[in-house]
Amino acid sequence: MSKKLFIRTYGCQMNVYDSARMADVLAPLGYAPAQGLEDADLIILNTCHIREKASEKVYSELGRLRETKQERPGMLVAVAGCTAQAEGAEIVRRMPFVDVVVGPQAYHRLPELVARATRAGGAALDTDFPVESKFDHLPLVATPAGPSAFLTIQEGCDKFCTFCVVPYTRGAEFSRPAADIEREARMLVEGGAREITLLGQNVNAWHGAGEDGAAIGLGALARRLARIEGLARLRYTTSHPRDVDDALVAAHAEEPKLMPYLHLPVQSGADRVLEAMNRGHRAEDYLRIVERLRRARPDLALSSDFIVGFPGETEAEFEATLDLVRAVGFAGAFSFKFSARPGTPAAALSGQVAEEARDERLQRLQALLRDQAEAFNREVLGRVVPVLVEKPGRHPGQIVGRSPWLQSVHCHAPGAAIGETIDVRLLRLGPNSIAGEVAAPASGEAA
Ligand code: SAH
Ligand code: SF4
Ligand code: F3S
Repeated sequence: MSKKLFIRTYGCQMNVYDSARMADVLAPLGYAPAQGLEDADLIILNTCHIREKASEKVYSELGRLRETKQERPGMLVAVAGCTAQAEGAEIVRRMPFVDVVVGPQAYHRLPELVARATRAGGAALDTDFPVESKFDHLPLVATPAGPSAFLTIQEGCDKFCTFCVVPYTRGAEFSRPAADIEREARMLVEGGAREITLLGQNVNAWHGAGEDGAAIGLGALARRLARIEGLARLRYTTSHPRDVDDALVAAHAEEPKLMPYLHLPVQSGADRVLEAMNRGHRAEDYLRIVERLRRARPDLALSSDFIVGFPGETEAEFEATLDLVRAVGFAGAFSFKFSARPGTPAAALSGQVAEEARDERLQRLQALLRDQAEAFNREVLGRVVPVLVEKPGRHPGQIVGRSPWLQSVHCHAPGAAIGETIDVRLLRLGPNSIAGEVAAPASGEAA
C-alpha cells in the first residue's frame, strides 16, 4: 500500500540533506512524497536547536499537529533533528501524541522505529550515538533535486564553542571516507547535478586518506572531486577559521571549479570575547587568513556569522566587531543575538547582556552588513559573469540562476537549459535578485 510522507525541515543545510536521506530510507516501506500535511500518513519535523526561537518553533508546530492528530489518529508524527537529540523523552512528555523521536545519528534506524510505533502504539525513541555510522546504512540514492546539490562529508563537532549546542546534538567530529564521497558525488552528477556543496558543521576539519593512502584534507578532496566530468562548481560550508590550512588555500588558487565565495564565521571582532567563546583564534588571525585566501584567489568574496551580546560583551568590544567587519568587507552575513542555550557553558556566565542592548547592537551591525552586501552587489554590475541556470523564471523565456558569488541572477534566455552555465552581463539590482542579459552563448567556466 502506498503511504504518504511529509517532511518539514528547519535549521541548516545539513538538515536539508538529512531530510532527503530520511525520504530515501523510508521509500522501501512504501512512503512516497505527500503534497502537504493534509494528505500525509507520516509527518517528520526535522528540527533545529541552535537558538531558543528555533526550538520553540518546534513546540508550536507540534501544538498544531496535536489537533490534526485528533482528527486523523492513524497519522504518525516523528520528531527528528537536533531538538529531538537534545530533548529526547522530554518531547513525548510534553507532547504525548508524538510517535517517534529520532536523533541525527540514528536515521538509518527510522524504518524500524516507524514499524515499532505502528505496531505497538506509544512512542519509539532513539537518540543514541550508535557505533555504526548511519552513512554505511542509509541507501545511496542520490537523486539531486536540481542542478545544485548538497553532499554531507563531515558531521559533528569537537570544538565546543561555549555558546553552541551542536557538539551535543550532532556528537563528535566524523569524516566520511573520500571514496564514499566521490561515489556519491558521481551519482549526483549522473543525476543532473552541476554544482555540489560539500556540507559539514566543520567542513574544513574533514580529513581522510587519499588514493595512495596518505592523509589528506579538504583541499585535496576538493581537487579530487573537481576531476569529475560534468561537475561545474564546488562549494563547501561551514568552515572554521582554525581549520583553513595551506592546502585549502592552494586549492582556491589553482582549482577553478572551487567557487570564489566562502562562508567563514568569525562571531566577534574582540579578542576577549573570542576567547570566552572558545573560538581558538584572535581577530588578527582571522584577518590574516582572509588575506591569505584573497592573495590566492583575488575575486574571493566572504560571508560570516556574528553573535552580538555574548555575556560580558562591552560596547567597546561590540565596536571591535564593527571594526573587523569594516576591515574585511563582507559580501553577505548572518547575525544573531546571543541566545542562552541550556547545558552550554555560556548560558551560565555572569554578565548576560540586556535584551535592549542586544537589539540595538544587532541593528547597528546589520545596517553595516547590509551596506556592505549592497556595495558588493553593485561592484559586479556591468560585468559578464558565468551563471549556473537553476530554474525557469516567472516570465516566459526567463531563467533564474546563480553567479559564482551565490548571487541570484535572472535574465531572458529562452535557449538556456537548466544546469547549463551561461555568460550573463549583470545590469540592475533588484530586491532579491540581479537582472542581467545574455552576453554570449559559450561560457568561460567548465561545464
Ligand atoms: N559550525 C559553524 C556554526 C554552526 S551554527 C561554525 O563554527 O561557525 C551557525 C551559527 O549560529 C553560528 O555561526 C553562530 O553565529 C550562531 N549561533 C550558534 N549558537 C548560538 C547561540 N547560542 N546564540 C546565538 N547564535 C548562535
Ligand atoms: Fe558550534 Fe563552534 Fe562547533 Fe561551530 S565550531 S558547530 S559554533 S561548537
Ligand atoms: Fe540547527 Fe542542528 Fe543545523 S542545531 S543549525 S539543525 S546542526
